[in-house]
Amino acid sequence: MKRAVSSKIEFAPDFVWGCATSAYQIEGSPLADGAGPSIWHRFCHTPGMVRDGDTGDVACDHYRRYREDVELMRQLGLRAYRFSTSWGRIQPLGRGRVNQAGLDFYDRLIDALLEAHIEPMVTLYHWDLPAALDNLGGWLNPDIAKRFADYAAIMFRRLDDRVKMWVTLNEPWVVTDGGYLHGVLAPGHRNRFAAPIATHHLLRAHGETVQAYRSEGKHRIGIVVNLEPKHRATDEQSDGDAVTHADAYMNRQYLDPIFFGRYPEELNEIFGEAWPRWPPKDLELIKQTIDFLGINYYTRSVVRFSAQASPLRAEPVHQKRATYTETGWEVFPQGLTETLLRIKERYGNPPLYVTENGAAFFDPPTVHDGRVADPLRVDYLRGHIAAIHAAIEAGVDLRGYFVWSLLDNFEWSHGYSKRFGIVHVDFETQQRTPKDSARLYAGVIGSNGRALNEPAEQC
Ligand code: BGC
Repeated sequence: MKRAVSSKIEFAPDFVWGCATSAYQIEGSPLADGAGPSIWHRFCHTPGMVRDGDTGDVACDHYRRYREDVELMRQLGLRAYRFSTSWGRIQPLGRGRVNQAGLDFYDRLIDALLEAHIEPMVTLYHWDLPAALDNLGGWLNPDIAKRFADYAAIMFRRLDDRVKMWVTLNEPWVVTDGGYLHGVLAPGHRNRFAAPIATHHLLRAHGETVQAYRSEGKHRIGIVVNLEPKHRATDEQSDGDAVTHADAYMNRQYLDPIFFGRYPEELNEIFGEAWPRWPPKDLELIKQTIDFLGINYYTRSVVRFSAQASPLRAEPVHQKRATYTETGWEVFPQGLTETLLRIKERYGNPPLYVTENGAAFFDPPTVHDGRVADPLRVDYLRGHIAAIHAAIEAGVDLRGYFVWSLLDNFEWSHGYSKRFGIVHVDFETQQRTPKDSARLYAGVIGSNGRALNEPAEQC
């Protein structure tokens, strides 16, 4: 299917084109060189939690093959690479003693990136909490905010001479929704009373860390949230309320405290007696000025009222004529433009990055003649890059875009069954093969987007 694309796509010469990954999803060797286990290590090694019993024990073996991966990035022409550091490699117990070997790994990775003229964006927390801290309550323990800021300060002191873009947390909403409310992600709690507490301490940890950065660091720091436009299934008032709840819960729960110093009122209704009253000084701490906001965008959600759906009273509605990815997410590029414009309007046009965008589709299981044809992912990327261009045209201060993901990798409770990479990984041999989507992306980067003005070769 050929698809017409706007005829005038071109991005600014300094637009940041990158790819994103995270530590537990690609590194492997989780206990190497003195590292302490994380909650994901434990979760994977608990039978029944992850599909097919998959673990991150080897993953993409990036811990040992990082040079090869940086070379791959250089060949694709990436200008930036967003990755996360594993807290347990730095502080095996999550506090106190620092493990130099862990710091050395990230030091070497960053040097290799800079040598290849690739700007690092470092995320300090992408879900792999040290297990020793989980023993003390994890994100439910108020002390964790200070522990996290201490760990972050270690990273700033060692790496801020070379790292210019820092991210405190990746997707705190997923940490609480998956890890504390529904239990499908580590640490696997299913507790309506726990989720709001975890939310609050994640936000306090973010606030403490931004403060620490102002005294330790010289560059820029922000946070990454995942957002989805919520659209109503019908004109019924109850569906309108469902949209408001779903939007407050996912899109405003973290951003309103950060930008306005208050939680959305709807959270009271959603959580009822499980929603605590927090001291105003906590909200002041959370409302730190950030230098940029990272947005992860994958899909939209059409919702309708449902009395049974706890705690939101809203449930998603399948769209009959839409394309869905392998993770069951509707392909909806215009939702990315909508999301970026909404942030511009609601939060005063902050500097933005799209820090993740991509899709899992079924790829041919074997590589043929050095090629992996992934037409649906090619089409997905074309549509979404055109969507960010439209947002920039409409005045959004968007500075960069990162594809999720560089490599096929460990997709959390789906194990290795969902492939998001623009580079295919054969998990038997660790052979990397750029897919057609990687070729498309390299062309987009090389032409600053102008390649998208040409019709898709094949879809
Ligand atoms: C996360 C990634 C994940 C991706 C695809 C994001 O929620 O940050 O770790 O692999 O989505 O599910």
